[in-house]
Amino acid sequence: MNRDIKKVLYSEEEIIERSKELGAQITKEYGEAGRSPLLVALLRGSVPFLAELMKHIDLDVQYDFMDVTSYAGTETTGEIKILKDLDTSVKGLDILLVEDIVDTGRTINAVMSMLKNKGANSVKIVTLLDKPSRRDKDVTADYIGFTVGNEFVVGFGMDYNQHYRCLPYIGVLKDECYS
Ligand code: IMP
Repeated sequence: MNRDIKKVLYSEEEIIERSKELGAQITKEYGEAGRSPLLVALLRGSVPFLAELMKHIDLDVQYDFMDVTSYAGTETTGEIKILKDLDTSVKGLDILLVEDIVDTGRTINAVMSMLKNKGANSVKIVTLLDKPSRRDKDVTADYIGFTVGNEFVVGFGMDYNQHYRCLPYIGVLKDECYS
């Protein structure tokens, strides 16, 4: 285990197992509706989860990426700036947003509204982690890997100052690692 990690919350095996369950659920629900979603992953944190999850969705799915950031000083309004937009038009598509963690919900809420305004047929959310205790936007993910308490986590895509994203598990940092 990485020496900066205080405890492991979810092992690689547990994440893979849960991704299989989510993939099966997504396959069933979209499949029964005769639809196939465009997976839209938000850079950069959701990349490992996207890579794991999509292996377990037995539908003809495609994926694309978006990169967004909050406007400085407008945290409470939840306005976001697009750093990288989708390469394809979303008009009429069923979008499944892939997130690493939904925290306050501001990012996903803003992206959802934007995609709906651009004419997506439906927009749903799949997130590896949900941190409902810090939510300030009325947004609920449709598919949730695990629910965590109010603690900062790293690994499986999630970072602290861009570090620890490549850990194959999700953990909590030792207190001395926060500068
Ligand atoms: P939100 O707009 O507050 O929901 O922010 C979601 C984003 O904040 C996630 O996609 C992460 O990039 C980041 N984030 C929130 N909580 C954590 C955490 O505990 N560890 C690492 N990144 C986090």
